Order: sequence, then C-alpha cells, then structure tokens
Amino acid sequence: MKVLVTGGAGYIASHTDLELLNAGYEVVVVDNLSNSCIEAVRRVEKLAGKKISFYEADILDKEALREIFKKEKADAVMHFAGLKAVGESCAIPLKYFKNNISGTVTLLEVMSEMNVKMLVFSSSATVYGNPSKVPVTEDFPLYAINPYGRTKLIIEDMLRDLYASDNSWNVALLRYFNPIGAHESGEIGEDPNGIPNNLVPYIAKVAAGVLKEIRVFGNDYDTPDGTGIRDYIHVVDLAIGHIKALEKLNENPGIVTYNLGTGIGYSVMEVIRSYEKACGKELPYVVTDRRPGDYAISYADPSKAYKEMGWKAVRGIDKMCEDSYRWQSKNPNGYKS
Ligand code: NAD
Ligand code: UFG
Repeated sequence: MKVLVTGGAGYIASHTDLELLNAGYEVVVVDNLSNSCIEAVRRVEKLAGKKISFYEADILDKEALREIFKKEKADAVMHFAGLKAVGESCAIPLKYFKNNISGTVTLLEVMSEMNVKMLVFSSSATVYGNPSKVPVTEDFPLYAINPYGRTKLIIEDMLRDLYASDNSWNVALLRYFNPIGAHESGEIGEDPNGIPNNLVPYIAKVAAGVLKEIRVFGNDYDTPDGTGIRDYIHVVDLAIGHIKALEKLNENPGIVTYNLGTGIGYSVMEVIRSYEKACGKELPYVVTDRRPGDYAISYADPSKAYKEMGWKAVRGIDKMCEDSYRWQSKNPNGYKS
C-alpha cells in the first residue's frame, strides 16, 4: 500500500514516514520545505534502508498535486502539512487560513478527482479550547481560542461535512496532545526555526547551552505546583498511532476521531526535572508572567483509541526527555549540523 504524506519532511511526519516504511508501506512525501529540510527525508531513508519518493511542492498548487497523484497512484493520504505557530497565527491569521484551510481544500479536491478517499488528518487538542475539566474525551465541546486552532476546527468540520455528503470517504481525525521527543537513534527530531515557542524544544536549547535559562510561564495556576500541566506524548508513539489509524480505516471504513495522548499530565516543573535527569545537570530557569492564551491543565482520555484501534502510548516522560536530549546533542544545529 502506498501512502502520500503531505508535510512529510516535518517533525511528526518524518517519524511517521519511518514507521510507515518499517511497517512495509511505500511512502511519497509532498512538502514545500517552508518549515523543514530535505535532510530529514534522507535520514529517514537511511534509518529504514528504503527509498521515499520526494516532491518539493506546495499543497496550494493544484496542478503540481494532480501530477503527483497521477504519477504515484497513492492509496491513502496522511495530511500533516500546515503552519502551527499559535502566536504567529494571531499576528497573521490570513496566512494560516490560506495555507491550512485553502491548502486542505485543494488537497481534497485533487483526492476527490483521483478517487483517493482515505485520509488521516493531523488535528490537535487545541480544538477543545480551554477544557472545562480533565481528562478530555472526544465528545467534549469544540471551540477555537486562536486562529491556528480555528484552522484545525474548520478542517475537522469540513471533513465531517464531506463524509456526510459522500460516505465512500474514509477519514481519521487524530487529535494530538503535546508531541515531544525524537527517534531513539538521535538521527531525526524537532528542528524549529529560531527561538522555540514550545516548552521542550526550549529546554533542549538551554540544556545545550544555546539559550541562557528556561522561562516558566507562570507558577500561580490552580495546579499542585502552580505551573501548567499538559499531556506530553513521545513522537514515536504518535507516529505509530497513525499506522494504527490506517489499519483501522482499512478494516472498518468510516469517519473516526481519536485523542492521541498518554492520559498523564505533567507540570512544567516536572518536565524540567525529568530533562535534568536526562542531561545530567541542573537547568537554570526563571518564573515569568503567564503567557497570554495559556490555560492551567489539559490531558487526554486516550481510551477510545485503545478500545477501537488497539493503540496506546508506551514511552514515558523520562524516555521522551532522554530521546530529545540525544537528538539535541547529536545535532546542536538541527539538520544543519
Ligand atoms: P512541522 O512544521 O515540523 O511540519 C509541517 C510540515 O508541513 C513542514 O515540513 C512544512 O514545510 C510543511 N508545509 C507547511 N505548509 C505547507 C504547504 N502549503 N505545502 C506543503 N508543505 C507544507 O510541524 P509538526 O509539529 O510536525 O506538525 C505536523 C502537523 O501536526 C501540523 O498540521 C500541525 O498543526 C499538527 N499538530 C502539531 C502539534 C505540535 O505540537 N507539534 C500538535 C498538534 C497538531
Ligand atoms: N511553557 C513554559 N515556557 C516555555 C514554553 C511553554 O513555561 O518557554 C509552558 C506553557 O505555559 C504550557 C506548557 O509549558 O503550560 C506547554 O506549552 P507548549 O508551548 O509546549 O505547548 P501548548 O500546550 O501551549 O501547545 C501545544 C502546541 C499547540 C497545540 C497544543 C495541543 O503548541 O499548537 O500543544 O496539542 F495546539
């Protein structure tokens, strides 16, 4: 079976490409390299000992997509391509609407023309907004708290409408919680441009001595140590979730929605402590004001994914930090190292 992976050179998709190749799938990557490097794809090929068909193309370019679909004759699509920086989405929402929403519409039009109707979509826990209680189940109310989140919600709604109009579509909406870590080889990992926005990539740069100190965004939340709690999930567990979703769609067609998280929440301070164990040194931090738009606590109830597709995350927080640190140490400047 051949899977076309949009955004396939990116962080989560590169780990998924590798799991797909290891599971015997053929992989086609379409990426405009706006937030990634071809080197990620090359390293996946090396780790798997198999080739990937790579196309540098934009999902907004309908003609290019048509040509790729005609040539490759993929059976399914995993759709990761998208912009993902929450702060940037507040500053330039139109760029997010065009890239993420129009890009997805273009992709779906071409898939429809080519009669490729199996899709696994990268959604996000952001569709739950600021959850009113935890753990979060898939039937919680959905709402957006920033333009990035709105793009995920609109795409989910579009896919539900599309399926309602034509139930020969076969769709998995995967709501990721907080993906971190790297493949245990240390060969592929997260390589953010500039100063990282997210907690663990920022800690990694402090551990490597590139940044001076971790900024803890508020210690006055209503949580045991006052810092924000999230459900961090190892990127390899997340990647394996995509293979399970594809198997589920093949065996039992329809539209499905799953939380992909561990079900365990860790505070910012707990993550720092775990990272200190991984790198064997104390990490300097300073407590600052809360980051606008942040909320106290979110973690998944991932039991539906286990019940319906036999998937659960098995890698714990210490392993996530160890693998993150290995990737950071082996590649101090990311793929440009
Ligand atoms: P990433 O930026 O590493 O990967 C996205 C990839 O898509 C990049 O390689 C980028 O070059 C490519 N891309 C972007 N726009 C494109 C376009 N118009 N045409 C072709 N390629 C394009 O990000 P990631 O963290 O791997 O995220 C992958 C997906 O998962 C995204 O859709 C993101 O919104 C979603 N997601 C991420 C997180 C997270 O915390 N990392 C959480 C929930 C959901
Ligand atoms: N935090 C810090 N210091 C930092 C960065 C973050 O203290 O330098 C704190 C935040 O306040 C929060 C926690 O660490 O309590 C996690 O923050 P991240 O920025 O790593 O992740 P978020 O939960 O804010 O958001 C991430 C993605 C979103 C996605 C969401 C749910 O960035 O796109 O997970 O999947 F929607």
